[in-house]
Amino acid sequence: MIVTIDGPSGVGKSTVTKALAARLGFDYLDTGAMYRAVALAMLRRQLPWDDLAAAAVLPALTIELPPGRVLLNGEDVSAAIRTPEVSQAASKVAVLPSVRRFLAEQQRRIAAGRNIVCEGRDQGTFVFPHAECKFFLQADARVRAARRAAELQARGQSVSVENVLADQDERDRRDALRELAPLRPAADAVVVDTTDLTTEQVVETLERVIRARQGRGE
Ligand code: DC
Repeated sequence: MIVTIDGPSGVGKSTVTKALAARLGFDYLDTGAMYRAVALAMLRRQLPWDDLAAAAVLPALTIELPPGRVLLNGEDVSAAIRTPEVSQAASKVAVLPSVRRFLAEQQRRIAAGRNIVCEGRDQGTFVFPHAECKFFLQADARVRAARRAAELQARGQSVSVENVLADQDERDRRDALRELAPLRPAADAVVVDTTDLTTEQVVETLERVIRARQGRGE
C-alpha cells in the first residue's frame, strides 16, 4: 500500500509521516531530502539552475536514504542539506523537469512492492497517481513559519520567524507555479488543515482514514 502526504513547507509533513509510518509498520520516504541532495551537489559544483547543467550532473549522483539519514555518493549529508541556503536551492532545482523526472523515477523504484508513506509536493498527483490513500496537509502560513523557525533554532541556527516566512512565501510560490507537477492537492486527496491540531491529532486522523480503507479492502 502506498500512502502519499503532500503539502507546503512547515505544515508538519515530516513529523507526521514518520509517526504515521511507525504506527502502521510502514517504511517512509522523504522526497524533499532527495531534492535537497541534488541542490547541494549543484551548489558545490557552482552550477547554474538550469536543465542543461542538471542533466549533466544527475547521472553522477547516487542518493540513498537509509533510515534517518541521507547519503549523497556515499557521504552523509543529513545535516548539510538542512541549511536555509540549501532550502532555497532545493526550491530552484525542483522547478527543473529533468530533476523532477529523475527523482520521480527513483521514488517509484524505491516504493515498488512496499508498504510505504511517501511525503513531498507531488506524490499524490504526479509520482503515485494510483496510490491507495492520499493526503494533503495545509496550515496557516504564519503558523508554518513559526514551526519551521523553532525547528531550525533547535538545531542551533539563528533565524527569525519573519525571515523564515519571507523565505517560505517565495518557495511556496515557486512550488505552486512551476509547470511540471506543481504543488496542489490531488482530486482524490483527503485535505487536512493542521493549523490548530497537534501532531498526535493529525496522525490519528490520517491513521483512521487508512485503517478504514484497509478494512474495506480498497
Ligand atoms: O520538504 P522539503 O522542504 O525538504 O523540500 C525541499 C524542496 O524540494 C522544496 O522547495 C520543495 C521541493 N520538493 C518538491 O518539489 N517535490 C517534492 N516531492 C518534495 C520536495
